[in-house]
Amino acid sequence: MSTTENKSVEITKGINGLEKVILREIHGSSVEVYLYGAHVTSWKNDQGEELLFVSSKAIFKPPKPIRGGIPICFPQFSNLGPLEAHGFSRNRVWTIDLDPPAFPPNVNVTNRVYVDLLLKPTEEDLKIWPHSFEYRLRVTLGPAGDLMLTSRIRNTDGKPFTFTFAYHTYFSVSDISEVRVEGLETLDYLDNLKNRERYTEQGDAITFESEIDKIYLSTPTKIAILDHEKKRTFVVRKDGLPDAVVWNPWDKKAKAMADFGDDEYKHMLCVEAAAIEKPITLKPGEEWKGRQELSAVPSSYCSGQLDPNKVLQSS
Ligand code: BG6
Repeated sequence: MSTTENKSVEITKGINGLEKVILREIHGSSVEVYLYGAHVTSWKNDQGEELLFVSSKAIFKPPKPIRGGIPICFPQFSNLGPLEAHGFSRNRVWTIDLDPPAFPPNVNVTNRVYVDLLLKPTEEDLKIWPHSFEYRLRVTLGPAGDLMLTSRIRNTDGKPFTFTFAYHTYFSVSDISEVRVEGLETLDYLDNLKNRERYTEQGDAITFESEIDKIYLSTPTKIAILDHEKKRTFVVRKDGLPDAVVWNPWDKKAKAMADFGDDEYKHMLCVEAAAIEKPITLKPGEEWKGRQELSAVPSSYCSGQLDPNKVLQSS
């Protein structure tokens, strides 16, 4: 945890008395993360505007995962294995890690406010997934209001294990029909709505007019989500996470979800930095690192004309 002058980390009670940590940055941006799931539920810019979508019907009560924000899918993405959908890390209570192992010296922590969270399997967890691990998550709020999530997963077992992973980020958007995603055009994807058959994305940026549930493969390290109405662009930068899931349930599936409002699909889009197609294998003692960095900038900042190349080339 970093708490020095001009920075702040507060541990407090959230909805239903669940513990949460609030990170505040001097210019006004903030992040909230629940220990339940190590689940980021809020990310606000320096104007106090919420950048993540959380359903008004989200149930903040174990064992139901929180609908919205940034659930972590580990050790299994979706139903790609024997565990419950998206694995169990999103409905376990994590602890605050006061003494995490050092990051490499090149990781700059100056002017950043962060918290380290830790998950280790219980005896019960080992019955459903018989692999010992230590999962450390650092949630960092940067000086420009950027939100960084760094996962370090170590095999503390005597045998190798394999997992899939996603940061299941729900972005808040003004109107899904005004949104486009750049950086995934012409890539191959597995279509979750068609038995995960493989297709190639055609044409231009991705726009939305019906349900979508695709796993884009071997994607670039930078993806942009342009919200024309809000004149806001989210930039996702990722490392160690080759794939990217794009999900919007649209109207029918929205109605079928108890913890999601019927019309809320219009105001969210999940773009999930992930490692799915090629599962990660860790030998005993090995560590894997997967990082996602989110920034939100006025669209005009990237390019006057929302030029896809300019958006993705700007740093
Ligand atoms: C997405 C999956 O990542 O998560 C979808 O691709 C799934 O298939 C969605 O419906 C939501 O999952 P859940 O378990 O949070 O309802």
